[in-house]
Amino acid sequence: MDYFDQIKEATSFIQNCTGFNPDYGIILGTGLGALVKDVKVETEINYEDIPHFPVSTVESHSGKLIFGRLGHKKVVVMKGRFHYYEGYTMKEVTFPVRVMKLLGIKKLVISNASGALNPNYNKSDLMVINDHINLQTENPLTGKNLDEMGVRFPDMSEPYDQKMIDTALRIGEEENIKLHQGVYVGVNGPNLETRAEYHMLRVIGADAVGMSTVPENIVARQMDIPVFAVSVLTDLCYPGHIQKISVEEVIAAAMKAEPHLTQLIEKVIAEDKI
Ligand code: HPA
Repeated sequence: MDYFDQIKEATSFIQNCTGFNPDYGIILGTGLGALVKDVKVETEINYEDIPHFPVSTVESHSGKLIFGRLGHKKVVVMKGRFHYYEGYTMKEVTFPVRVMKLLGIKKLVISNASGALNPNYNKSDLMVINDHINLQTENPLTGKNLDEMGVRFPDMSEPYDQKMIDTALRIGEEENIKLHQGVYVGVNGPNLETRAEYHMLRVIGADAVGMSTVPENIVARQMDIPVFAVSVLTDLCYPGHIQKISVEEVIAAAMKAEPHLTQLIEKVIAEDKI
């Protein structure tokens, strides 16, 4: 069965489970699942039950799609995402984004945990992503183009929706949430970077580094879906501050930032117009 048929089959399966039509897709990053508690849940579907859906392997990600209302908005939340470093192809990593498009989402909201390259950033700060650099070695659009879903050579002049960025920055001021805005660089992982690599990533123009988000963004933009994304800075990766870090510390720093992240995303979606 070809890729597009798999996407359609997964979508039909979900539509048979729920008649809910989400307007927003939300992908929650490592240690950042708490937004789910504010969703008035209509239906939950485990990834493993959906045909052709990859199954999450990292323990800190419990994989399910959650359909419901966040405030007055209709959302589908991906609790747990797929990373390239887990061994999935980029087509697998981005499969759920394709399915969410066919389910009718109009916008995509993404969160992630990332390392801070900009020396003005502190642990557990938030960074609204305003651009990215793709250093991942496989591109999700490689191969025969899915003409039904988008163009061969998608424009990337506004990868992150400027209106949503502006709304977020205003909400940050109003609600006293410290927000940076900056450039995210996506790397393969799974190892963290060497000092020399962190230095290089800073020199080429990045403010934060992580192992997700870029493929999801590329696929969403190919399908003309505006994207809003926020990084939680979980470790400091600039000279003088680089320390040994563990996944537990990354998750602890993410959880500390989570109330602000959740508040920000909820307000941005509440104010957004589609
Ligand atoms: N590098 C890459 N990915 C990350 C990091 C990092 O330092 N921290 C959290 N995700």
